[in-house]
Amino acid sequence: MGESKVKCELVNGHKWGPKAHLSALNNDVTELIQKSQDAKKFAYCPYSKFRVGAALLADDGTVFTGCNVENASYTLGICAERNAMSKAISEGYRNFKAIAIASDLCDQFISPCGGCRQFMREFGVDWKVYMSKPDGTYILMSVEELLPVSFGPEDLKIHGAQDLKINGSKHLEINGGLHTK
Ligand code: THU
Repeated sequence: MGESKVKCELVNGHKWGPKAHLSALNNDVTELIQKSQDAKKFAYCPYSKFRVGAALLADDGTVFTGCNVENASYTLGICAERNAMSKAISEGYRNFKAIAIASDLCDQFISPCGGCRQFMREFGVDWKVYMSKPDGTYILMSVEELLPVSFGPEDLKIHGAQDLKINGSKHLEINGGLHTK
């Protein structure tokens, strides 16, 4: 997805990192954003009335879409981005190139919530997030830029841990403590 980038200092009233870019329109990106806008039409958001759509591009070119789905039990609501990602994961996809996000906000680019950033980060830090407006313009940032110094699956790998056998069951020794496996 080659694109021309224009450095953008102030977006949504915030100063974005030096790597944030307001990009000129590009065909592939336009298509992905269009798909996120189409997905937004299915948003189920009777409580917030805030429609969001997402289109996730897997490494083989497959696109998974998602919308936000709210619930009368408010905390059960799920964001569009997480819906699209869960659809992809549940169909065997784990490698992603990009995700486009759409909302109805005309004056600012939709920005993924912290939970969605962490959810994206689970599947790598080096892929693209297109945050769009209804007119199709967008800001491009990587997952790494959106969630710097993050915690991820690699951090759960415990170095120097030793397997011990005690009373026939397997234990893992970590810093002198014992954990049954
Ligand atoms: N929402 C998303 O789906 N994605 C975002 O990036 C931001 C927020 C949803 C969650 C909720 O249904 C509504 O927008 C208002 O927060």
